Amino acid sequence: MTEPLPAFPPGFTWGVSTASYQIEGAVSEDGRGTSVWDTFSHTPGKVRDGDTGDVACDHYHRYPEDVALMADLGVGAYRFSVAWPRIQPTGEGPANAAGLDFYDRLVDSLLASDIDPLVTLFHWDLPQPLEDAGGWLNRDTSARFGEYADLVAQRLGDRVKLWITLNEPVIVTSLGYVLGIHAPGRTGVPNAFPVLHHQLLGHGLAAAAIRRHSTAGVSLANNYTPAWAVGPDGRPETATDEDRAAAELYDLYHNRMFTDPLLHGAYPSGYELLSTVDVDSLVLDGDLEVISAPLDGLGVNYYNPTAIRAAKAGDDLPFAMVDLAGYERTGFGWPVVPDGLRETLVRLLHERYPEVLPPLWITENGCAYPRSTDDADRVSYLDGHLRAVRGAIDAGVDVRGYCVWSLLDNFEWAEGYSQRFGLVDVDFETQRRTPRASYRWYRDLIRGA
Ligand code: GCO
Repeated sequence: MTEPLPAFPPGFTWGVSTASYQIEGAVSEDGRGTSVWDTFSHTPGKVRDGDTGDVACDHYHRYPEDVALMADLGVGAYRFSVAWPRIQPTGEGPANAAGLDFYDRLVDSLLASDIDPLVTLFHWDLPQPLEDAGGWLNRDTSARFGEYADLVAQRLGDRVKLWITLNEPVIVTSLGYVLGIHAPGRTGVPNAFPVLHHQLLGHGLAAAAIRRHSTAGVSLANNYTPAWAVGPDGRPETATDEDRAAAELYDLYHNRMFTDPLLHGAYPSGYELLSTVDVDSLVLDGDLEVISAPLDGLGVNYYNPTAIRAAKAGDDLPFAMVDLAGYERTGFGWPVVPDGLRETLVRLLHERYPEVLPPLWITENGCAYPRSTDDADRVSYLDGHLRAVRGAIDAGVDVRGYCVWSLLDNFEWAEGYSQRFGLVDVDFETQRRTPRASYRWYRDLIRGA
């Protein structure tokens, strides 16, 4: 038996997270337009086993059952995302009323169960027509995103507890536009800077739009990772100075490029190394003011540290991502390093951004394990990471809440349905939901808190 978890501060929020394309299904219903993930998942060879989000967890129809599961779990907050193509099927123009109605019903049913809605506006399902016009490579997409945010905030702004404009702009940049592993599947290092800048600009325009209609807090969620230099055996002890320099560059790209402009109103020096494009033609006067308007919160998605080595001659990227040795792994093969979450909160955020860091929310943390296991590994993962959060709070970090990724097994992007992140098991043949041991563990923890 491990020690019971130490108590969390009074008012700490316990929640769960999901995202629209990963759970909703109903992709052609009520006027929803096509998103880049519809296109990508229907392109042969892009997603494992040819899986798509066409049906997913059928949450669009089954949301009352899912809200009941959350009510029984006892969470105080539910982080979900709005599918942009349900609101604006082509990515511009007036709102599709049926799309807004769905989220309106969802929000009301959450509130009826005393669950606060934490609403993400963009969790990767960009309307396909916007992608056809260049997607996040095109500055116009930032303006479109601001208009979309305005429509959603107008309708839900009186009931949302916390807004999250973007989810993980770093992953959209890296996997979506540089490496092509995620939708829209574009490739090329020169895409990185325009894609990240236009997302951040879109965030700023969306934040301003939200504030016109809602007094709720505004935040953005990014993926954070400590970049650990390692040697040829995947261990930090054998890293060389070259590996350490590469890890620093990775940290600059993954963590600071997205957070410095938000909190300091400037891109970090050294970023030019990552960019082969003319930055001055992309960052126009006033952009950084829009991007750095004050935030009420910052969302942290944490899964694991990233092991980095120096690049080899001929590599496209100025660093190499390798396997970290010496740790247990999740079913997905990701190293289990709870202390990396404490390091993220303390070193990468609290110590780096004194005075300007808004309150933090852990907007995602969780793990995938195969269905056949008894779920003890997931319980142990969550327990370890919550101890790390508690440790960060003890070190003075202002953390307001924690959301497990995820409530349900769901469509895990390029991995399709092969990775099960849910506190609740989903049988994708029958749509039957079965709470796991980790669900009961989390329920007990929340009850005792
Ligand atoms: C992400 C996404 C989630 C993933 C989760 C597990 O943050 O990558 O927000 O949609 O499913 O992270 O990979």
